[in-house]
Amino acid sequence: MGVTNLKKDLDVVNIDLDEWDRLMNVNTKSVLLGCRFAIPHMVESGGGSIINTASMAAFAGDSVRSAYGASKAAVVNLTRYIAAQYGKDKIRCNGVAPGLILTPAAKNSMPPAVLDIFAKYNALPYHGEADDIGNTVLFLASDESKFITGQTIQVEGGHYMANPSIADFNQFLAQA
Ligand SMILES: NC(=O)c1ccc[n+]([C@@H]2O[C@H](COP(=O)([O-])OP(=O)(O)OC[C@H]3O[C@@H](n4cnc5c(N)ncnc54)[C@H](O)[C@@H]3O)[C@@H](O)[C@H]2O)c1
Repeated sequence: MGVTNLKKDLDVVNIDLDEWDRLMNVNTKSVLLGCRFAIPHMVESGGGSIINTASMAAFAGDSVRSAYGASKAAVVNLTRYIAAQYGKDKIRCNGVAPGLILTPAAKNSMPPAVLDIFAKYNALPYHGEADDIGNTVLFLASDESKFITGQTIQVEGGHYMANPSIADFNQFLAQA
């Protein structure tokens, strides 16, 4: 699960503090509770694989959505802590960090102009779909990933990986 509210989850000075608490509960505490209740059973049955849902908002600053970004960054580090605490019990814990994925919720809430902005900055010429996340989760759940733990895999079409000042540097080099 995971939520945000663009009217209340604002910059640090203006963010609604009740909304901060709500997002920390829904986005982060939910992960803690799910793991807390599952882990004893996993230990008893000899191990397993936990996959938490983070977001690329965990890895980059933004003008708004302070609580969403902080709540998802907490999921990334909680994933490491769980991996460190229960690895010897053969429990792996990893995460997936989606960029924009065209789920029904995203399709219904995003005007075409916003989708165009995302497409412009993706390295790949298409948007992410639910299967891109599903296939990553499948890999992390399977024994194909049996030596991977504590990691959060970024599934985001190369949107966030390039230096954002490339265009300015190219201009500088052209003039040098
Ligand atoms: N779609 C994207 O572009 C995108 C990008 C980055 C991260 N994510 C993350 O992926 C996950 C799924 O997102 P989605 O796009 O499928 O959205 P979605 O709205 O379809 O799914 C969110 C789910 O969370 C559940 N939920 C919300 N509040 C809850 C609560 N208080 N208690 C229990 N359940 C609650 C909703 O019922 C829903 O099933 C979320 O964690 C989201 O933050 C999505």
